[in-house]
Amino acid sequence: MTSLRRLRPTAIAPRGALGLLLPLVLIAACAPSGRDLAERDAGPTAERGRYLVSIGGCNDCHTPGFLESGGTLVDSEWLTGSPVGFLGPWGTTYPPNRRLTAQNLTEEQWVTLLGTRTGLPPMPWPSVNAMTEDDRRSIYRFLRELGPKGDPVQVALAPGIQPVGPWMDFNVYELPTVTASAGADR
Ligand code: HEC
Repeated sequence: MTSLRRLRPTAIAPRGALGLLLPLVLIAACAPSGRDLAERDAGPTAERGRYLVSIGGCNDCHTPGFLESGGTLVDSEWLTGSPVGFLGPWGTTYPPNRRLTAQNLTEEQWVTLLGTRTGLPPMPWPSVNAMTEDDRRSIYRFLRELGPKGDPVQVALAPGIQPVGPWMDFNVYELPTVTASAGADR
């Protein structure tokens, strides 16, 4: 006690500084660091799967009418596969009904599929291959929570076969060459 009393006069200045510093120290202690966030988010959940599907753009291709709706379709309509083919040098591919795929696979099979499978464009296979195992599990759990809906989509068509239903053309065409004389004519 004696030593504390003796310190008191000199402690006034630091206490004033502490008054200012303390809120900052508390704010810093409350603000989560990157590692805290990772730890808090650790573990696969359906909720995290929904988040990944949302930011991963999966609905853009796998949910009919999603882009046209401005992204407002309710979850129950999500990921039922699209009848619109993507025609390119690889033939014509159709984004499969993932609500059905997830029902037909175990979680382990799904995790392996997303982690190792490569396939045809424009499916962003490298992006899903790069997901963490927990990410892949989370998407599976979200799909299982949604449950099965819809029908299987059309199987992919080999190059050279003309699609019958709707399709988008993903071929790359040469841009017209602008020549110097064409520019001079203007
Ligand atoms: C640009 C369009 C597009 C986007 C975006 C897209 N996909 Fe795909 N997806 C496809 C196409 C087309 C196929 C079929 C490709 C093939 O046959 O290899 C496919 C196939 C798949 C398959 C295989 C399913 C099965 O039943 O065989 C899975 C799983 C899949 N996508 C998951 C995803 C996930 C997860 C996302 C979001 C992170 C996503 N896709 C985003 C177009 C897309």
